[in-house]
Amino acid sequence: TTIDMVAEDYALGGFPDFMRKEIAEQGEAVRRALRGRLDDRFATAHLGGLNMDARELRSISKVVFLGCGSAYYAGQLGAQLIEELARIPATAEPASEFRYRNPVVDPDALYVAISQSGETLDTLAAVQELQRKGGRVIGAVNAVGSAIARQCGAGVFLHAGPEISVASTKALTNMTVSFTMLGLLLGRVRDLSAADGHRIVDGLRALPGAIDQVLTDEDAISEIAHRYAKARSMFFIGRVRAWPVAREGAQKLKEVSYVHAEAYQASELKHGPLALIDQEMPSVVIVPDDELLAKNLSTIEQIKARGGPVIAVTNADLPADAADEVIRVPRVAPELDPMLLTIPLQLLAYHTAIALGRDVDKPRNLAKSVTVE
Ligand code: AGP
Repeated sequence: TTIDMVAEDYALGGFPDFMRKEIAEQGEAVRRALRGRLDDRFATAHLGGLNMDARELRSISKVVFLGCGSAYYAGQLGAQLIEELARIPATAEPASEFRYRNPVVDPDALYVAISQSGETLDTLAAVQELQRKGGRVIGAVNAVGSAIARQCGAGVFLHAGPEISVASTKALTNMTVSFTMLGLLLGRVRDLSAADGHRIVDGLRALPGAIDQVLTDEDAISEIAHRYAKARSMFFIGRVRAWPVAREGAQKLKEVSYVHAEAYQASELKHGPLALIDQEMPSVVIVPDDELLAKNLSTIEQIKARGGPVIAVTNADLPADAADEVIRVPRVAPELDPMLLTIPLQLLAYHTAIALGRDVDKPRNLAKSVTVE
């Protein structure tokens, strides 16, 4: 065990645990995912592992993302990115449900199986069901040589590096980065303009620096986490681009701190859950600086009017008193807002878990990869 402990200390490289280390590694992980894949000349991306020529790329009528847990939320972001950048209809669904509902498999669709470990049984089973029915399926996998990577035969490797902590952080970021490149590639053989292509390429390249900038706010986020750690439950609210961000924020908090959290679409609040809002129920509201800004500000007003504490996570220029707490992130391109808005939520979950004395790397009842049903 002494040797194990020495090996672990070495692997931690001075960080207290793997989750904290992996959060810090995200800039580097994104750089690795981008290496050799961005094309400035034609404002597109190269994803050689797809094994598809332009004609085949143009034949895709729909994109369907499949993954479990956080990988499914990353798929929701992927679907949003594909629709924005390539204008191809795109959806995401939990891989764990797929084979049980006798899905209609569309031969013109592109199915994307998402997995950090590449060993998640439900995702592998979805791939096999798809292949049996003639579906065209690629992998978006981190672990090279894993079961899902081998079963798919083609795809995009995430290049996040080894992820040890049960709570996924850098692999999720690289999933979204990979889906941005996929959207760019699909968009540029359709009608995404060169100007927009360049804007996305530049945005991706600026992402690692922007992630590092968010991480410099860690102390402030840690203070907020300690202030709200006693809450019995928290809401995570977002709309459209920020909705999967909210889902991921709630998931991370539950996973590592065991504080109950629920994600809700801002527009759905008044259809029921607003009844839960009071002084004891903090809401984390994700506020991108986009065309929905005014709507998000009115959501914050509605929550405050009922006495609910609000933590706003935003890249908009909100006045400090717009919410009880305001966490700011930089912006590189509107389409990439979800990635940067997710980073403070990782830190919020992490520091809440620390405040409550949890074992962040190995939360109770959970395994890093779920190889059983
Ligand atoms: C993420 O923090 C979770 N531990 C979990 O939801 C995870 O994303 C899911 O089990 C899928 O794992 P995979 O990416 O290895 O397939």
